[in-house]
Amino acid sequence: EKGGWSSFMAKEVSEEPEAVANTLRGRIQDGAVVIPELADLDDLFTGIDRIIIIACGTASYAGQVGAYALEQWTRLPVHVELAHEFRYRDPVIDERSLVVSISQSGETMDTLMAVKYAAERGARTLSICNTQGATIPRESDAVVYTHAGPEVAVASTKAFVAQITAIYLLALHIGRVRGVLSPVEAAEHVRELEAVPGKIKRILDTEQEHTTQLAHWMADTRSVLFLGRHVGFPIALEGALKLKEISYIHAEGFAAGELKHGPIALIEAGQPVFVLVPSPRESSLLHDKVVSNIQEIRARGARVIVIAEEGDAAVLPFADEVLRIPLAGPLFEPLLAVVPLHIFAMGLATAKGLDVDQPRNLAKSVTVE
Ligand code: BG6
Repeated sequence: EKGGWSSFMAKEVSEEPEAVANTLRGRIQDGAVVIPELADLDDLFTGIDRIIIIACGTASYAGQVGAYALEQWTRLPVHVELAHEFRYRDPVIDERSLVVSISQSGETMDTLMAVKYAAERGARTLSICNTQGATIPRESDAVVYTHAGPEVAVASTKAFVAQITAIYLLALHIGRVRGVLSPVEAAEHVRELEAVPGKIKRILDTEQEHTTQLAHWMADTRSVLFLGRHVGFPIALEGALKLKEISYIHAEGFAAGELKHGPIALIEAGQPVFVLVPSPRESSLLHDKVVSNIQEIRARGARVIVIAEEGDAAVLPFADEVLRIPLAGPLFEPLLAVVPLHIFAMGLATAKGLDVDQPRNLAKSVTVE
């Protein structure tokens, strides 16, 4: 079933473009988002005053990325929470709350219990799931399936980009139903989404070799740090999680602005740090802040690996390595920037001779609490 691939993970990373394209398929008509599963739920979406996203692991980082778009396009307050933390703190939820769960398997017990808890408290529930007929969608009021296809490798990759795609579709749908987004605005975002598969494909074509080579050079590395701001922050967390999961090395993701409040103390000569650089086109402020973060860590000896937009030359004087992603709107960059991080984690685990599909101590679907 692996075809010619060395691992399921390699196959699944190569399928990231299709995972996004298939999740969009049949849900866009004349530039508008039309989600057949949600056709009769306008009252639900107009009757809510907050959204809470619950998930575990990689799915929770998809949720964190999705929250930026949901908030921006619906102007509802959005809060993201780990499913296993959610019900132990008496959360403020009622019938005007929409609890969106994200789960590739649809069977993660922590997430399922959180969904049940939310429903008992009267909240409306919607699940984003990759597995038809799984328990979590069955327990939810509504479901938007991701169409990433079966994911076998324990570390989630193509499901992650499909989850972000599905939340973006949901956000556009709610934004339109609530009259926050105009048809023209929504169509612009739809165009960006439709361009994502081709852009991921380009990264796989142009950056795969360099990123894998980099991972091989770094096979003896004991710790890697990841920095990002705004939507780059959850991508930094995802990059770190992937390394922990399959390479068994210490990795941590930080919000770049938090650097000076503690993590910069970790920087010593040779410490590898991935930095996700936002596009300079949309927000030069955000971009320049990240570039100055890079200068700060470089001055302390960090080995800086930058993920930056094609053509962004400002990063060049301060970067040891540059991985390029195609131009995209700020909210769409995470769908691109995560791809080199998936390739890197896979490359490092492979360089260490590890089984990338079946990492120690982990299971694809955790059905105990
Ligand atoms: C884990 C898997 O334990 O469950 C992760 O190892 C995954 O890869 C997490 O992100 C959540 O799984 P699911 O199926 O709920 O998305």
